[in-house]
Amino acid sequence: MSPTSTNGTTANGAQKPTTGNEMLEAAHQARSKAISTLPDETFDWRITLEGKVIAITGANRGIGLGIAEVCLANSATKVYSLDLLEPTEEFNALSKRFNGRLAYIQTDVTQDASIQNAVDKIVEESGAIHGMVANAGMTKHQPALEFDRAQMDKLFNLNFFGVFSCCTIAAKKFIELGIKGSIVCTASKVGDGPNRAAPSAPYGGTKAAVRNIAKTLAMEWSKYGIRVNSISPGFVKTAMTYYVETAPDWDLKMQYYGGMPRLALPQELGGAYVYLLSDTASYTSGIDIPISGVVGAW
Ligand SMILES: NC(=O)c1ccc[n+]([C@@H]2O[C@H](COP(=O)([O-])OP(=O)(O)OC[C@H]3O[C@@H](n4cnc5c(N)ncnc54)[C@H](O)[C@@H]3O)[C@@H](O)[C@H]2O)c1
Repeated sequence: MSPTSTNGTTANGAQKPTTGNEMLEAAHQARSKAISTLPDETFDWRITLEGKVIAITGANRGIGLGIAEVCLANSATKVYSLDLLEPTEEFNALSKRFNGRLAYIQTDVTQDASIQNAVDKIVEESGAIHGMVANAGMTKHQPALEFDRAQMDKLFNLNFFGVFSCCTIAAKKFIELGIKGSIVCTASKVGDGPNRAAPSAPYGGTKAAVRNIAKTLAMEWSKYGIRVNSISPGFVKTAMTYYVETAPDWDLKMQYYGGMPRLALPQELGGAYVYLLSDTASYTSGIDIPISGVVGAW
């Protein structure tokens, strides 16, 4: 297939090069946008988000809100929640505690125009964007034989296409602004195996896909100084897992799962996100960090 055979344009709409000279010129321009991945000589090696503007999708509650709290506690200049729902009471209380450094932009991550609008608004308001946490997601627990196509489309639209779009839209903005941005995707421990507490094969598939693309995007975008990683939580205490502790055999299950016999607090994941979003992680890209208290030892 020739390089112009798909639609004859590049990702930013420019005409694709056809002749040898045009290709050389395009390669030269791509290299001239490359950014050194080395830290600045004056970098002080603290793990901090000082000066950073971070977007987190689905941060009005649950894991996203927990990540936001830990980012703010580690000096993030501003954290934006890009969420579909109106802010929760918990969200408003946290925003108040951090003097408005936590803000909300109504966003539907299944719609590219909505993500683009949110990213543009952040840059307009705060002058930059340094981090994108593609976190919004949903699950559906039922046996594989009962899933229909519409249910799977819904899961993949949010958990996979939504994440992919957040990554690419943020990356284009980082490149435009010449910022060494960091992207962290929320995957899941069930991205590499079954959830023994409740069957959810398509959900596991979306999370495996997220882990996979994070590695490839990390490879493709390192020349722009952009890092991409994923984090795979185990059981975390949120609306998504309300059912887990209500199971009559929960204590027995925990005994067999091994590890820490409890669910994680959303904030207990935050330190890993802060690290990956910080400049201290300048050589950390294309990895997945599993955080599951050794529960369900794999
Ligand atoms: N809770 C767990 O045990 C667990 C474990 C592993 C991975 N995860 C993953 O962590 C992420 C967060 O899960 P959670 O437990 O906090 O869930 P949650 O349901 O508590 O929160 C999800 C948030 O995403 C928002 N959202 C939903 N659709 C959206 C859309 N189209 N656009 C923007 N925002 C949207 C919701 O409004 C909500 O605020 C998900 O990707 C989930 O798959 C959760």
